[in-house]
Amino acid sequence: MTRKPVPYTHQFAQTMCQLGGDGLLLVATKPGGESNVMTIGWGTIGSVWGRPVFTVLVRPSRYTYQFIEAADDFTVNVPTPEMSKFVLHCGTKSGRAHDKLERFQMSVSPGRMIKSVTIDACPLVYECQVIQKNDVNPKEFDASIPPRFYTRGDFHRVYYGEIRGTYAVE
Ligand SMILES: Cc1cc2nc3c(=O)[nH]c(=O)nc-3n(C[C@H](O)[C@H](O)[C@H](O)COP(=O)(O)O)c2cc1C
Repeated sequence: MTRKPVPYTHQFAQTMCQLGGDGLLLVATKPGGESNVMTIGWGTIGSVWGRPVFTVLVRPSRYTYQFIEAADDFTVNVPTPEMSKFVLHCGTKSGRAHDKLERFQMSVSPGRMIKSVTIDACPLVYECQVIQKNDVNPKEFDASIPPRFYTRGDFHRVYYGEIRGTYAVE
């Protein structure tokens, strides 16, 4: 699928809807070339430090965590409706058990601006360089955030990914 550079605000509402719906696909590639993919539902796109930033939240228990830590960058891939089985799989199965990209025969392409790869079947992708990360502070939650999110601890690490490139099919 040939994708061309677009502004990071391209199809913003659609991306946010999918993020809050079935989810988007986050991929990180280790320096050795190994990639892992997981579904994300929490995140934001906005402007921080005068830069376009995709913020994502990843629990340390995720296999993906060690991939982002090693890569220092990640891609967010917006799937098509036809990819719904893959998206569900990536949100319920861990890459510790098997290579999810391989299982679903998903081809990938090198990032143009970063090291992590993008999923070819996705019509819109964001290439993000980690420029800040911090851990959710359990002491600072508003009382309205239900404790059920963190019954086992496993507090998310928040990654601020500067969007170095956004690419979409025409
Ligand atoms: C719709 C949906 C959204 C999700 N969003 C997140 C998220 O934002 N952060 C997170 O850490 N896990 C999230 N998950 C859970 C991971 O995708 C899931 O645990 C996955 O199996 C992790 O794969 P891994 O172990 O290969 O990294 C989500 C799952 C689903 C189904």
